[in-house]
Amino acid sequence: MIAMTSKSAAKRAAELRDTLNRANRLYYVEQAPDMSDAEWDAIFRELQTLEAEHPELLTPDSPTQRVGAPPSDGFAEVIHPSPMLSLGNVFDRQELAAWHKRVSVYVEVDQFDISCELKIDGLAIAIRYQNGVLVQAATRGDGIRGEDVTANIRTIKSIPLRLAGDDVPPALEVRGEVFFPVSAFEEFNAQRAEQGLQTYVNPRNSASGSLRQLDSTETAARPLEAFIYSISGPVSGMLQTQSGVLSALKHWGFKTNPWSRVASNLDEVGQAFDAASADRPELDYGIDGVVIKVDDLALQARLGTVGRDPRWATAWKFPAEQVSTTLKEIAINVGRTGSLTPYAILDPVFVGGVTVSQATLHNADVIAEKDLRAGDLVIVQRAGDVIPQVVGLAPENKRGSDSQPFDMPDRCPACDSAVVPDEEDVVIRCVNGRCPAQAVRLLEHFASRGAMDIEGLGEKLIAVLYRNDFVGDVSDIFDLSGSREDLIAIDRMGETSVENLLKAIDGSKTQSLARLITGLGISHLGSENAELIANHFRSLKALINSSLRANIWRHIPIEDKGHPNLVKGLLGIEGIGPTIADSVQDWMQLTSNLRILKNLDAHGVKPPVLEKRDDGDLLFAGLRFVVTGRLDSFSRQEAQGRIKELGGAVSPSVSGKTDYVVVGADPGSKADSAIRMNVPILEEDQFLRFLGGEVPDVDETA
Ligand code: IVH
Repeated sequence: MIAMTSKSAAKRAAELRDTLNRANRLYYVEQAPDMSDAEWDAIFRELQTLEAEHPELLTPDSPTQRVGAPPSDGFAEVIHPSPMLSLGNVFDRQELAAWHKRVSVYVEVDQFDISCELKIDGLAIAIRYQNGVLVQAATRGDGIRGEDVTANIRTIKSIPLRLAGDDVPPALEVRGEVFFPVSAFEEFNAQRAEQGLQTYVNPRNSASGSLRQLDSTETAARPLEAFIYSISGPVSGMLQTQSGVLSALKHWGFKTNPWSRVASNLDEVGQAFDAASADRPELDYGIDGVVIKVDDLALQARLGTVGRDPRWATAWKFPAEQVSTTLKEIAINVGRTGSLTPYAILDPVFVGGVTVSQATLHNADVIAEKDLRAGDLVIVQRAGDVIPQVVGLAPENKRGSDSQPFDMPDRCPACDSAVVPDEEDVVIRCVNGRCPAQAVRLLEHFASRGAMDIEGLGEKLIAVLYRNDFVGDVSDIFDLSGSREDLIAIDRMGETSVENLLKAIDGSKTQSLARLITGLGISHLGSENAELIANHFRSLKALINSSLRANIWRHIPIEDKGHPNLVKGLLGIEGIGPTIADSVQDWMQLTSNLRILKNLDAHGVKPPVLEKRDDGDLLFAGLRFVVTGRLDSFSRQEAQGRIKELGGAVSPSVSGKTDYVVVGADPGSKADSAIRMNVPILEEDQFLRFLGGEVPDVDETA
């Protein structure tokens, strides 16, 4: 090619980009190609050459840039400008009518149009455009924070890198669903199987796996597609309806789902749902229902959201797929706290997109009610398309003469000790403190993500380590570094995995005290309460000392408390009630648990000591407040924040432990309770003076 001046090169590059982007749209979005593959290739190569000669002409919307980002080590976090919501759901016409009624009542409008769209079974994605150019794409994540998958999204040919039309808003965020077409999925999986690679269980998982490749050339090799269905943030004045949004999206070059339709009443929504059910087998993508949206955007705005779900939309889900299979055996799982839970071992069966071979049966009552026995033919579904469930007996089930009703065992299947009924007999528990099944569950819990988060120390490895006597209780985990050679000798462990494991264990030694306490597996104590307990004790040493004291005093009944009582101290913690306090005390009183704490300390577990707030010096030290009504000087939250900063505690309701009730305008029942219970009331000005250091006189308060 003859060298061009940079001005004419720039012009030519822009022309080529436009031609290719348009051709792309016609081919991938509108499925109406306007040129042959060979023509496309020729233009593409010309652009590539031009860009190689004039790198300054490279633009992010160039079709040559769909692949090309270097592999990354991880995805950056993206905070969504507005949360990516989920959807409530309905399963039949009655539930749909209830949804419709709620909407009508809320906005006081009887008739409103409804946009009916297929609910695509893929992954939600948010894509941002600036001046019509794709700048960022993120996964949904937890709805608030997602992962930056821009490089991967750019490889999806039906997603425009530059938008068409001269009315594109300068800043635009669209949302939609990325999916793996079913036919392509089958082909792709067959290829993987041939290459000896692991196959994906369903198109949804493979879409998710493909989008989360760190190397975008890998994503580019997979035929992902996307339907875009919404604009997030304020929409331009031109748009008044969801159906209008879909048309605008289409006009800007996005691939929208062609099936969408507007219904003007519930009958029409019902027809749409029936049509979707009928069309489902013919579609080359998975759908799991119909999304029902109030069409009018102004009404949508008035309706708003409840929690994470918009009031203005719901998903009418298809009934869960049900299949029948043989219930081979009813087995028993022993949990961390010794509870015995029956579960079904099934002849593996593919249902709702995955192979299911086990399902929980909850308890003996459920089994009796469904009349399930080993050997029965049963119906299985995935509840909410996630948790496998045994629905009941299959109608064609036949029993042999040896069929026996199920009985809960009276001995623990793991340790053979006698079990005891608990909580009104619904739960049956193994109370053997040395039960191996409980020990293993506790070790799993300790190492899990929500607790000490020790990477690589999962269920399988824990079972092996326990069986081979490497670990008995959680403190032994931190002693494993002394057995390096023996660990390497374990089947399939190898040097690298042992190194990694020991590194992960070492790294977890400085996890927070709250995580450590969570990991101990004290009954009823979840991570939030563990946090409160941790803030109370502040250090592992204090926890040990308290446990030591609990051990010394354990023979004296709590009623005779002439001694510093642990429960009493725990009950003083805002948010901790008697169940938790008792449970912590019970745990600490066991000498074996005290030993675990000591061993953790001896093996170098060092949660950072939580800073000691010198509460004693603070103005509100030891005082407990309730704030109610509307304050003039600050919001209720701010007032509560100030109280806490000054060492005070804030309770949601008035009790005998409340020292002051701060009362603003329109206070409601809490002020009444204060009067009834003789708790001093502080008016806002008194409270302000108190904040300023002026302690109220006792009889000054109401
Ligand atoms: S609307 C505010 N429309 O379903 C509403 N969502 O269960 C949520 N989905 O996270 C988005 N097809 O990933 C909407 N036509 C459609 C959809 C759709 C699939 C997904 C989406 C969302 C999930 C909610």
